[in-house]
This record gives sequence, structure tokens and C-alpha cells, in this order.
Amino acid sequence: MDTTSAQQSLWLKSLPAPARPTLRGEHVYDVAVVGGGVAGLTAALLLKRQGLTVAVVEADRIGSGASGNNTAKVTALQSTVYSTISSRHGEPTAKSYADASQAGVALLARLVREEGIDCGLRHAPAFTYAFTPEEVGAVEDELAATRAAGLPVSADADLDVPFPVHAAVRLDDQIALHPVRYLLGLAAAVDGDGSAVFEHSRVERLHDGEPCRVDTGEGSVSARRVVVATHYPVFDRGLYFARLETTRSYCVAATLASGEPPTGLAISAGSPSWSLSAYDGQLIVCGRGHSTGDPAGSPYEDLEAFARKHWDVEAITHRWSAQDPTSYDHLPMIGPYLPGSDRLLVATGFMKWGLATATFAATILADAVAGTPNPWASVFSPHRLSLKSLPDLLRMNASTGLDLVGARVKPADASSSDDLPAGQAHVVRDGLGKMGVYRDRAGELHGVSLRCTHLGCLVAFNAAETTWDCPCHGSRFDVDGAVLEGPATRPLPRREPK
Ligand SMILES: Cc1cc2nc3c(=O)[nH]c(=O)nc-3n(C[C@H](O)[C@H](O)[C@H](O)COP(=O)(O)OP(=O)(O)OC[C@H]3O[C@@H](n4cnc5c(N)ncnc54)[C@H](O)[C@@H]3O)c2cc1C
Ligand code: FES
Repeated sequence: MDTTSAQQSLWLKSLPAPARPTLRGEHVYDVAVVGGGVAGLTAALLLKRQGLTVAVVEADRIGSGASGNNTAKVTALQSTVYSTISSRHGEPTAKSYADASQAGVALLARLVREEGIDCGLRHAPAFTYAFTPEEVGAVEDELAATRAAGLPVSADADLDVPFPVHAAVRLDDQIALHPVRYLLGLAAAVDGDGSAVFEHSRVERLHDGEPCRVDTGEGSVSARRVVVATHYPVFDRGLYFARLETTRSYCVAATLASGEPPTGLAISAGSPSWSLSAYDGQLIVCGRGHSTGDPAGSPYEDLEAFARKHWDVEAITHRWSAQDPTSYDHLPMIGPYLPGSDRLLVATGFMKWGLATATFAATILADAVAGTPNPWASVFSPHRLSLKSLPDLLRMNASTGLDLVGARVKPADASSSDDLPAGQAHVVRDGLGKMGVYRDRAGELHGVSLRCTHLGCLVAFNAAETTWDCPCHGSRFDVDGAVLEGPATRPLPRREPK
């Protein structure tokens, strides 16, 4: 196994230094957009094109969230999504999802063209394929569901991959690109003429009023509207945490000593899924998904082994991971943050397909601000009630309840950290509670409280990422407790290791 690969996405290495300015002082704009991923930046650009002034306020760097850590396929064919949506919501809703996703793919291509964004965009077919004979049924179901939803798909198992494919659905004319270069192009188009993009500016408070205000501690933006595009909605209102489930997946990029990576954008229909793509001659393999906070095994090693088994890998150059929320009823949530008011808007729940779906989400949000009717607004409203999916809602929240109880009864691994090897973590009793302790490669111990600062579940160590991850709603923290991903906004308290 190659151990020298960068623990960073292939895309984020292209982020330029220095960062854009930090938000300082008090500012007034027409719209504040919180979050500089594909949802936030696309919405910001569409709103600016309406003649509004927009501030994008990003906690870290542009693209540092899921938008800069993915497989970079922009496609309306999305694994087995249509089978799931039509069985839960019926064919008309699956058709709306297909229409909206195709519109998202087309809008992204148009924005690249109109703004002259240099992001290596290429058109390619997308596939949902059967990696094993057992997956053929799921592929056939998806073929029927995508046809019923109106996608111009075909049955075509002729993928240029070096292993047998047992069946596949094909959708032509989809897109691969460099997502971070795309986002930087969007940010450049947003910036200027009264609008601005701020980086390293984490919004800590959101005030809903006339005007609304977002505060970072160092600065604030007052605005008539706020778009919350933080991926997982980070502000404690609207009970989004009770309706979203987060799963994490892993990726590796490899150079090949001989042969070519696949030209198509392919994902297998089973579990585990093998998602394949290529950029600039490099092979990309993603998969090994699991619920956040429930890490299992050695995901990077499994992906590397898969790549090496099927291709003549020269070197693994990058490894990265990310997570994405899925709503209890498997549709994105796009529209008013709270029922009855569109001062605050939200877009989330992209199920690992947000390059297309967060792009169409931006059109729904922009129409909401302009007061223009949008044909998909009610389908994706965050406040819809999906009766067929109520059992999933109950299951998700029962599981959170069990995690909260488990937090109280889970035993400690050790009474002291004296024997903890470098690069490992364990749980140590800390008075009446427990602390998590990690020993870094230099031998130094890092102790934190294990109680997630969101709602109190017990975080678990993710050895692949060296992070503490929460099983309840997907918050993640570094070994010193700093928040990496919400909904938590406060760090885990530090503890003195014993
Ligand atoms: C492994 C993996 C592979 C994927 N592959 C694909 C793919 O091939 N095709 C596809 O379409 N989709 C894919 N996805 C999904 C896709 O990347 C996401 O759905 C999409 O990027 C979500 O965009 P976003 O703008 O909602 O979130 P993000 O890109 O996460 O943007 C949210 C931003 O908000 C910022 N933020 C958070 N809190 C605050 C705060 N308090 N103040 C200010 N800013 C804040 C974050 O720093 C972040 O930059 C993949 C996902 C995963 C996990
Ligand atoms: S993310 Fe909700 S309790 Fe941890």
C-alpha cells in the first residue's frame, strides 16, 4: 500500500492562497448567503443576476465542504435514486426530480459557458451498473424507474472498465469537471458590483427579523433574506436534525502505470458501492459509505485494494472523505427554513448528488426571493409531510434516542492512557463521565469530552480521519475538540488526559 498519498481531495489542492477577506465590521446587503459550497455560490450568483447585492459568508475556504470533496459527477442518473423516490412518493414526484436534476445539469453547463469558468468540463455518459449478478435486479428496477421518470436512458452494460459488468443503465451527455475550479469561477462571478465573498468567517448566530442578521463574532451582515447553505443546517431551529441522516464516504485518486481510467461516470447499484470517475488521466474510486459516527474497518485500504485489483496503479496520490445528509423521505429539502416565512431559506439533503441537485436548488431559492412561482417548490419544500416515510422518521429518532442512552452506559476502554500507542485513541473514565484520548505521532496526548455539544450523544473515533464523529446527526470534531462539521457549533471541551 502507498502511504505517501495526500490526505486531501484531488480538487482542494487547487485552492489559491491567500484566502478572500474575512468578514469584519457591520455590513448591509440584500441577501446573506451562509456557506460557500455549490448550493450557496450558485444561489448567490442567481440572486446577483436578479440585481440584488449578496454577501457569501464561508466558515472556511470556498469548496472546503462536500463540494470540494466528492467524485465530481454532475448527472441526473444517480445510483438507484429513482427506484427509491418512485416507491416512496410515486412516479410524478420521481419525474419532478428527474426534470429538476436535468435542469441542474443544464444550468451548471450554462453557468460554466456564460461565466467562462475554466474547470475542465467534459461530457460523458453516466451509468448505474451491476458489479455482481445479485445487483442485476436493482439495475433493472432503476432502468424502469428512470424511464418512467422521463430520463432518456438505455440498457447498456458496455462500460470501459476492466471487470465484468452484469447490467447497466446509461444516460448520455452528463458532466465531469473540476469542482473546486468551478466553485472558484462562481465565486469570482459573485464578487464585485456591490456583492462580496468572505472566507474564514464562521457564522455563529442567526437573527430572524426585519432585517435578518448573521454574526460571526468579528463581523455581521444585515439582510432582508438569509440563505442557509451550510450543507447540514447549523442553526438550531426547524428540527432539521430530526429529519436528516448523514453518511460518510471515502475516495482515492490514482495514477496508472498503464491502461486508461474509465471515461464514463459509473456507480454500482449494490452495497458496498463502487463509484468510478476520472480526471486528467487519474482514476478516482469512491465508496465504503457508513453512517457518520459508526466508522467500520479500513475504508482507504479497501478502495486502494479495489483500484489495484482492477487497474495497473502506479501510485495512490490522494485520499479524502466527506459526508452528505439524506432526508427521512429521500428528497432534498429546499425552500423556507421555517413554515410561513421566506426571510430565511435553506437547501440541504442532497443524498451525495448535490452537484446537480444543489444547482437546481439554487433556482428554487432564487425564485422564492423574486416571488416567481417555481414548479418544484412544493415537491422539495422542507415542510412537506411524507406519510409513507413516517416509519423512517421514527426509526431515525429512535436510533438517536438509543445513541443518547448508549452514551450513558458505554464502558470506558481503560483507566489511564499510559499504554495508548501513538496514532490511536481510546475512551477513559473521567469522574462520572468519559473522555476520549488520542495520542499523536509525536507522543502527545489530546483529551476531549465525548459528549457532543449539539444534543449530547457520545462521539466515536474515526481512525481513517483522526476525528471524533457523532452518530446522532453527524457533527465531527478534531482531536482537540474543534468543530469540523455541524450541526454542532461549539467545540468539545478539552480534558486533561490521565
Ligand atoms: C464522497 C462523496 C462523493 C460525492 N460525489 C458526488 C458526485 O460525484 N456528484 C454529485 O453531484 N454529488 C456528489 N456528492 C455530494 C455533493 O458533494 C454534495 O451534495 C454537495 O457538494 C453539497 O453542497 P452544499 O453546498 O450543500 O454543501 P457544502 O459544499 O458542504 O457547502 C457548505 C459550506 O458551508 C460552510 N459552513 C458550514 N457551517 C458554516 C457556518 N456556520 N458559517 C459559514 N459557513 C459555514 C462549510 O464550510 C461549507 O463550505 C458526493 C458526496 C460525498 C460525501
Ligand atoms: S450531532 Fe446531534 S448530538 Fe451530536
